Amino acid sequence: MDIRNELIRNLKNRKPGYGLEQAFYSDPDYYRLDMENIFYRDWLFIGHDCEVAKPGNYFTLQVGDYPVVIVRDRQGQIRAFHNSCRHRGSRICSAEKGTSAKLVCPYHQWTYELDGRLLFARQMGDDFDASQHSLKTVHCESVGGYIFICLAPVAPDFGPTRALLEPYLAPHRLTETKVAFQSSIVEKGNWKLVWENNRECYHCVANHPELCKTFPEAPSVTGIQGSKDDPEIVAHWDKCEAAGLPSVFRIAEDGQYRATRVPLLRDAESYTLSGKRAVGRQLSDDVNAKHIGSLLLYHYPTTWNHILGDHAISFRVLPLGPNETQVTTKWLVHKDAVEGVDYNIEELTHVWLETNDQDRRIVEENAFGIRSPAYEPGPYSVEHEGGVLQFLEWYGNAMETRLSGDKKLSKVA
Ligand code: FES
Ligand SMILES: [Fe+2]
Repeated sequence: MDIRNELIRNLKNRKPGYGLEQAFYSDPDYYRLDMENIFYRDWLFIGHDCEVAKPGNYFTLQVGDYPVVIVRDRQGQIRAFHNSCRHRGSRICSAEKGTSAKLVCPYHQWTYELDGRLLFARQMGDDFDASQHSLKTVHCESVGGYIFICLAPVAPDFGPTRALLEPYLAPHRLTETKVAFQSSIVEKGNWKLVWENNRECYHCVANHPELCKTFPEAPSVTGIQGSKDDPEIVAHWDKCEAAGLPSVFRIAEDGQYRATRVPLLRDAESYTLSGKRAVGRQLSDDVNAKHIGSLLLYHYPTTWNHILGDHAISFRVLPLGPNETQVTTKWLVHKDAVEGVDYNIEELTHVWLETNDQDRRIVEENAFGIRSPAYEPGPYSVEHEGGVLQFLEWYGNAMETRLSGDKKLSKVA
């Protein structure tokens, strides 16, 4: 049977409230369909405006088969290009990040302006038309200090995402930050297992002793339902909204992204062992309230985030293969905060470095067990794992709609 039909059939036949079949987490053909229908079609959070603070600053990344370079041009606009030379296809920028007045291909030195135009190609003859050989663009948008790209030829409308996220992010002025620390780890598990683990805190109490000092495990905090009925959360929203910080739980119609502000345990200000701030210089001068908790924001399929009063933490999920996922974490602080004076890296990063490593182990053990021929999908906890079900619902709907829209499918069916 055609693999697309098989995937759809497996989605349709899934027992309600249960996990997915093994193939979704390890089969190379299913993985390819995930890449083609999710990662090559959706908007993806990939980094922050502050990482390309000045014209000529760039960073690179790999999304599946696509090498991409993000650069700030001379006019200050952030742009994204396919990192593949229009001459014979060489990768142009190979460094993870850097600064360059022009983008110069290392192979034969074709030279591109920061806006992608080909400026110079040595001895290509009189009839060579440079204007036909600009770098290929990748759709690129930035909202509240977050850069999103879309690899599809025609990108979905970014307007609704901007409309929902911008008011939540704006007061935190994340464009005026810097990356104080960044870590990239590889988890030996399918990208969906990384997400499933993220979307519940059923596992937190036994696995995250450091995080549990400040982060509530209540499903009304991490999950998708219940926050509106939790008086503590509602009181927190009221307090923060009165201080000018959008806070109520809001979610996209199709469930792809959501924002909500939650209180931390014991009125903690930050994810430190003591609960005290890790950074002396607060993130934004526009935020005057204390004990604002954490702004939780996710956007499938690449990011979840915690934005606090003193710093912000972003997480980026990029699949490397059916059984490998890269998770990159960045700690953002005010751009004028001084290391060793306002913060120290150890204190700033301790809780989430530990938590990430604990989650890596969890995901790897989960993947290991799922690869057993004896694996059979089990039931999710209705109380604690509503967020996981919601993630799978989004994934299932996206895959079904997109695969069913493929004309070839009806021929094979
Ligand atoms: S491949 Fe880039 S200049 Fe030749
Ligand atoms: Fe976790």
